[in-house]
Amino acid sequence: MEKEIMNDVKKYQKLEKLKKWRDEVEPIPYYFDGLENLCERIHPEKQLLQITDIQELSKDTKLFRFVSARYDKPLAPFRAGQYIGLNVEINGVRTSRPFSLVSSPNQLAYYELGVKRKEGGFVSIYLLDTLKVGDILEATEPLGELYYNRVFHGKDLVFIAGGSGITPFISLLRDISQRNLGLNIWLLFGCLSEDHILFKDELEDLVTRRSNIRVQYILSEPGPNWDGACGFITKDKILDQIKLVENKFFYIVGNRAMYSFIKEQMKELGVPPHRIIYESYGVPDDVTGITGWPKDITSSNAIKITIELIQQGKCIKKVIEAPCVEPLLNTLEREKELGISINNGCRSGACALCRTKLVSGKIFTLPEVTIREIDQDYGYIHPCVSYPLTDIHIDLTLI
Ligand SMILES: Cc1cc2nc3c(=O)[nH]c(=O)nc-3n(C[C@H](O)[C@H](O)[C@H](O)COP(=O)(O)OP(=O)(O)OC[C@H]3O[C@@H](n4cnc5c(N)ncnc54)[C@H](O)[C@@H]3O)c2cc1C
Ligand code: FES
Repeated sequence: MEKEIMNDVKKYQKLEKLKKWRDEVEPIPYYFDGLENLCERIHPEKQLLQITDIQELSKDTKLFRFVSARYDKPLAPFRAGQYIGLNVEINGVRTSRPFSLVSSPNQLAYYELGVKRKEGGFVSIYLLDTLKVGDILEATEPLGELYYNRVFHGKDLVFIAGGSGITPFISLLRDISQRNLGLNIWLLFGCLSEDHILFKDELEDLVTRRSNIRVQYILSEPGPNWDGACGFITKDKILDQIKLVENKFFYIVGNRAMYSFIKEQMKELGVPPHRIIYESYGVPDDVTGITGWPKDITSSNAIKITIELIQQGKCIKKVIEAPCVEPLLNTLEREKELGISINNGCRSGACALCRTKLVSGKIFTLPEVTIREIDQDYGYIHPCVSYPLTDIHIDLTLI
């Protein structure tokens, strides 16, 4: 009996020694404290990304490759189709823009983003003209609802992309192909001309290797040698490819003008809204042309915005003047000396991260944006897609 006890004590001492040695030499695994660190791993508040590669995809689009700038913080996992927000400071203005992840979610050594120059744009031009290999940028965690959902989307997927709206589909196609998901895919890709077809080599390669993936390019301004489809992505062109609408699920990504056009085509095809997901890139260039914009309000109308905010622990009020045709979020970010920082992700009315209290005044919200009923009842707005129509008063002490 005594011998057995001694054996147990010896075993225990050995284990203790081993544990001490492990504690000294082994790093603490990220799941060590259960969910807390795992949550930070999946939903980091921010990520620091370092550019390792820049490649020209077309005359006006570049592919940026980023690795984590922190060796102890791997890149957050994502679902194919999601985006990250890139936070930048340009001439003292702190702002951000969302960009869809192009890279495959099946590897997290790097992220890739494809950025297209927007004429008259702010952030896209800054990214394309100033970023170089080695630069470090701050980004959000991966966000967005445009991803494949096995339960609701079924097996027949129609991807409709306009211009740079191809980026999330490249990630989706890489994922579908790498994991051999057995889905039927029809990609209709609308571009201006042959030179604007991004990722053409990769798409051609996929089509030859995978019989379940079909790609149709549709050019609105083709060159003389183009013998493929021309014009816009109309209901006839969609039907010509997919034959039947039944049991298909539609993903639409492009600028707002393209989305509004395709939405009408979907209605005419009889596609029920619950079988469509979409992402529309950016705000309209001219909001006064959007359905519902009041005819008597022109771009020259200047608006007074009263802002309540907390500075150095004190609640203060500031009044600024702003044009009515700029999204309120952009206007507030322009006020550098106020140092206003409103959380944001999609900047297109979808994620609700920028929710802000409107105390008084009238705003115009882009038509396809839905604001939760409870937010509407309590006067919360999405400043990323809100335009002041009258003098307004907002309360930023609540964010
Ligand atoms: C979910 C999602 C994913 C996206 N993915 C991609 C993608 O993969 N690839 C891609 O290319 N695009 C993508 N976009 C679009 C992208 O986020 C930007 O909208 C696009 O790059 C244009 O941004 P921009 O700043 O150049 O132009 P705008 O956002 O139109 O910038 C112009 C606006 O910036 C403001 N501004 C201008 N000058 C100043 C100044 N001096 N100070 C302060 N404010 C100023 C003004 O409000 C002006 O109206 C995506 C959009 C969404 C919503
Ligand atoms: S940033 Fe997503 S709704 Fe405004």
